[in-house]
Amino acid sequence: MVLDDGGEFSLIVVREGDLVFVYRNRCPHTGINLEWQPDRFFDLGGAFLQCATHGALFRLEDGYCVRGPCAGDSLESVSAWVIEGQVVVDA
Ligand code: FES
Repeated sequence: MVLDDGGEFSLIVVREGDLVFVYRNRCPHTGINLEWQPDRFFDLGGAFLQCATHGALFRLEDGYCVRGPCAGDSLESVSAWVIEGQVVVDA
């Protein structure tokens, strides 16, 4: 959970070795959180982030929606790095 001037919001953080992908946990279709259970964001095949509400699929590498009611939109990315083994987020 992240706090800012407008309140609080959550992030999706996926780390693959030295790569880290961070998005605001907010579906571009309605603004709802994506997960279907706590910390469960991937589709059954494990290739895409999936919105639990209407099934939109998002590429992990850039958050682009490839299928669903918000196709062509993207998740809001957040800058992040892996530094000395720790994920550092510019939120
Ligand atoms: S709310 Fe995410 S696809 Fe509709």
